[in-house]
Formats: sequence, C-alpha cells, structure tokens
Amino acid sequence: VRSRDGVLRVELVATRRETTIAGQRARVLTYNGTVPGQTWRVQPGDRIEVRLRNELDTPTNLHTHGLAVSPRDNGDNPFVSIDPGQVFDYRFDLPEDHPPGVSWYHPHRHGTVADQLFGGLYGALIVEGDRVPVSRERVLVVSDISLTGDGQIVPVAAPEVMMGREGNLVLVNGQHRPQLSARPGQRERWRVINACTSRYLRLALPGQHLELLGIDTGRELTPREVQEVLLAPGNRADLLVSMRAGSSELRTLGYDRGGMGMMGGGGLSGPGTLATLAVTGAEAAAPGPVPDRLAVPDLREKSVAGRREIAFTMTMGSMMGPGRGMMDPGFDGRAFDADRIDQRVSVGGVEEWLITNPTPMDHPFHLHVWPMQLVETGGQPVREVTRRDVVNVPARGRVRVLVDFARHPGRSVYHCHILDHEDAGMMASVEVG
Ligand code: C2O
Ligand code: CU
Ligand code: CU
Repeated sequence: VRSRDGVLRVELVATRRETTIAGQRARVLTYNGTVPGQTWRVQPGDRIEVRLRNELDTPTNLHTHGLAVSPRDNGDNPFVSIDPGQVFDYRFDLPEDHPPGVSWYHPHRHGTVADQLFGGLYGALIVEGDRVPVSRERVLVVSDISLTGDGQIVPVAAPEVMMGREGNLVLVNGQHRPQLSARPGQRERWRVINACTSRYLRLALPGQHLELLGIDTGRELTPREVQEVLLAPGNRADLLVSMRAGSSELRTLGYDRGGMGMMGGGGLSGPGTLATLAVTGAEAAAPGPVPDRLAVPDLREKSVAGRREIAFTMTMGSMMGPGRGMMDPGFDGRAFDADRIDQRVSVGGVEEWLITNPTPMDHPFHLHVWPMQLVETGGQPVREVTRRDVVNVPARGRVRVLVDFARHPGRSVYHCHILDHEDAGMMASVEVG
C-alpha cells in the first residue's frame, strides 16, 4: 500500500490465522491475514495513520522500526499496551528530510514481542525518495519459525531465552525456500529485512553481482560491490543485483554469535538456503547508470555535547523467576522498568555513546527515534559515514556511536534486538528534553 496526497491510511488487524508453510498447515499470527503484513510505501514528509485492532489473545502494540519520528503522543511509543479486543489509533509524521531507506513495522509490547514476531507479525515499510533505475524491486522479509507436527507455533523453552530462540524454518515472505526468477542483464533492487527473533543472517548470492546501496536507513555514496552482508536481527539491506544467466541460491553463510558454554548451549545461526533464483531467457537491455546519491551528514563534524557508557549485562538472577534462566539480561545490571528513566539527554546535541558487551555472546543494540552513526567497532575507527539503527556489539567487544539528538524530544527506548533478551529485560528508556 502506498501513501496518497501525503497520507498513508492503514487498517491493521492482528489476528491468528491458518496458512500453509513448507507444505504444512500452520496456525500463525498475521496482520490482516498475511505473513508478512503488507508492504507500506511512503515519502519523506508523509503522515502514516494506522488503526490497529488487536484480535490476539495477548496485548500488543505497534512500532515503526527505522522511522525517526517524534516519540511524543503516540508516535513511537513502546509504552502503549493494546489489550485483546481493543483498538488504537497511531499517527506518525515523517519529517520532510527523513532519509529514504528500508524500515519495517512490528509489535513492541514488552513481554510479548519475541512471541509475536516469531508467530508472524511483521511487515516492510519503505521510505522512498532515492530512485535507482531497476527493472524490478523486490521486498524480501526473512523470518524464522518452528512448528509442531500439528501446525502450532512452538513455544520458547526457558533455556532458549538465554541465547534467543531460532526457528528451524527460515522463511522469505512467509514461504519456505521460494523460487525467484529473472532475465539476464536485468538489474533488480532487493530490500531485505532480517525479521528473525534472534537469528543472524550472513547473506550471499554466489554467482550473481551484488552491490550494497545501504544498511537500515544509511546509504552508501556509491554502490559498493559485496560478497556477503551481515544482518543482525532488526537490520535491513538495500541491494542491487545484476542478473547473470544461471541458477543461484540466496544463502545465509552461518554466523557464530557466541554462547554461554555449558549453561545455555551455543549460538550458531546455521548456514542454509533462503531462496533459489533462476536467471534465464533473452538478455535484457542494459539498465541506466546509478545516479549520484546525496551525502549523509557526518556527525563527527558536530561537537559532542555529552558522553555516556552503556553495558549489556547478563547478571546472576534467581532461578525462581517464571520463564527466566539463571542469567537475567539487562543493561548496566538492571532489567527494564517502564517507570524508570535510564538516560536523560538534552535535546539539540550530538552524544557519543560507548556500548560495551562483557558477555560471551553478541547483542544487536537498537535505539529508537534518534539516528546513530557507528564510529568505532572492535577498537578500529570506522571511516565512512555509517548510519545504523541496529549496531551489532560483538561478544566481549565494544562499539562507539554518535547519536543525533537534534530533535524529537520525548521518551523512548534502546534494547537488544534479540527479542527474547528484550522481553526478559534487556531494554532501557531514554528521556530527551
Ligand atoms: Cu525493531 Cu524496538 O524494535
Ligand atoms: Cu525499533
Ligand atoms: Cu541480547
């Protein structure tokens, strides 16, 4: 669905439905009956109005991941909770200078986020505005799920919470290993979203020519040829594929995200085939050149108004808590508390945040609303202007980001995008004023 006259209006119903996955009947969670939900397409400056009806049996809400919109009112508010049977009206106003790129929408009700995404609630949200001549654009929403023999979603087991669950079926647009086709010589734009609850994807398309236009809403100035792209949970890739005759597989190459050793098992996001691609037929005409792209402002040119350090922690907790492992995920030793403000930031400046991860596994750090620029990872400075809204922080590693708090006063959150960690408390709040 596409905005008209500057407004995108969506009636969104979260509901349980029967569908077919990998040839098997499955009872999944859907937006308006489909997995993934419909793709939303908007322009910078547009307004998005969503009426969300909750027909699930658990509370839910809605988050537009990747949009830099005001957290005031209900614009981007993970603190809203919509009970079963209730309806809620959202309104998101995109600034005129909102960056184009690949975003997505999904539930964000603390405590039910991982279950609801794993069940099928997610959809793509494309902010248009940087045109590249292509013969076709595809949106590929990658997710994973585990189903029982009779088609129910497998509930998470307590020990899995520690590592974050991975489903045994990886889906592309709700299908297991779909077949894609194209003609040689064509150039396609692929918008890939990692909507998995915890799985990391190392995307590769051997035999085809792959160029990266950007990750999340960040952009490369000129498309860069790549062999693979790492997407932590929550990350998105904007890619150009120049088709060569033959058949290829869109693969994930496997990624070791660390682990808790004996306590929680390993965290290997295994390799596998996501989709197959057949490139056959007559050679298509050569596509036009890729136009120059607007430079993204470099936050390093601004003075730093404040510095802070934030640590992912997994502290010894009680074994008694329901659904908890022995380690309680949090930030700085504390689990999320909706009534506590963890960071108070003055609006108007740029801050430098050092995010440390003393734990033995990777965690993807996600901040709502306020744009981040990655400036250091693994002790190495990052030279290019690298905008991200999900930044992977490797096991026993650290990253440094600059955060643009120039606007959007209000309250929102940062959290681990391994959503089992987020639900277990690895989230904290930011108040900007
Ligand atoms: Cu994709 Cu706070 O989430
Ligand atoms: Cu988000
Ligand atoms: Cu985590």
